[in-house]
Amino acid sequence: MEREPSAPLPPKRDISLVSWVNSQGFSKPIQFFDRKFGLFEVMKNTALTHSRPPPILPAGGPFALADSDSYCRWRDAKLAGYPARAEDLIVEVRNPAGLSAAEEAEIRRLCRVANMAIYAGREPDPLNRELPRRLGERFGLVHLDSNPLSDADGITSLQVVADKGAKGYIPYTDRRLLWHTDGYYNPPEKRIRSFILHCARPAAEGGENALLDPEIVYILLREADPAYIRALMAPDAMTIPANADEAVQVRGAQSGPVFAVDEHGNLHMRYTARTRSIVWKDDVATQAARRFLENLLDSDSPYIFRHRLQANEGIIANNVLHNRSAFRDAVETGRARLLYRARYYDRIAGTGLHEAA
Ligand SMILES: [Fe+2]
Repeated sequence: MEREPSAPLPPKRDISLVSWVNSQGFSKPIQFFDRKFGLFEVMKNTALTHSRPPPILPAGGPFALADSDSYCRWRDAKLAGYPARAEDLIVEVRNPAGLSAAEEAEIRRLCRVANMAIYAGREPDPLNRELPRRLGERFGLVHLDSNPLSDADGITSLQVVADKGAKGYIPYTDRRLLWHTDGYYNPPEKRIRSFILHCARPAAEGGENALLDPEIVYILLREADPAYIRALMAPDAMTIPANADEAVQVRGAQSGPVFAVDEHGNLHMRYTARTRSIVWKDDVATQAARRFLENLLDSDSPYIFRHRLQANEGIIANNVLHNRSAFRDAVETGRARLLYRARYYDRIAGTGLHEAA
């Protein structure tokens, strides 16, 4: 332990992380600052609460709290011409697996504006599970996230499967799915930046999706109180304990922020409304931000879009918040809901903050 008299006292915490020295691999000591004892170091394999360096908060740009000029410019541009209704997100296309240049451009434009679009294929198509992959490739989506429940090609067939449902995998039941972003339990290196949900067959009744753009959520929170943003960007805002989620492989606890800014300057949101097996940071600021978010998701905000996918329709999105209402299949008449889901590590090409239109 070594004292460092010249180091400034941190204002609030007793112990604060000063730096993650050579954080890739922890091959060097890591430094902490303790108000009482000053700067000291711990070697790797000591009792650390984080398994990786905390995310770096942006110093500038629209998602930096200190840069209100950038934020206001970005916010005003974002809200000008924002879609008013779910219908405004719909792009009618002849064949989603073979878009025309104009159809592709319109889907990309909507994804730039709202981080999502709904394509509606008007030519009947047989149950084509190749479709999401071919559609995704048009938008630079090539790095598929596969999980233990994906099929061999990395595309997941979402339908009622009795034995998966019995094990607690809600997506494979006809029950409602709460608000979430996909892969909220993934580590940062497997961040889900986008998904395609393609409807092969709708249910007999129900199965409506609600959709909400995380950038809009960011704006609403920041306008209400910038402290909400500060709390939700903290690296320990939300933790999924080790092995807590049955739908993923055995893995360690995933602590992380709700909002993060990736290496390209784009906002990423990690959220689930489930309460079981989720640990929210237990401080006033985080709890207040969480409540605000819950109230927003429970509201009839005009920014929440609701749509029930028909056959050969689908959603392509930069991992927007979404949920699903309960549904009822009528297997005897062939009306059993079947969606193909593809999740990607890529963001939809041409929709990044620093990408030209
Ligand atoms: Fe999902």
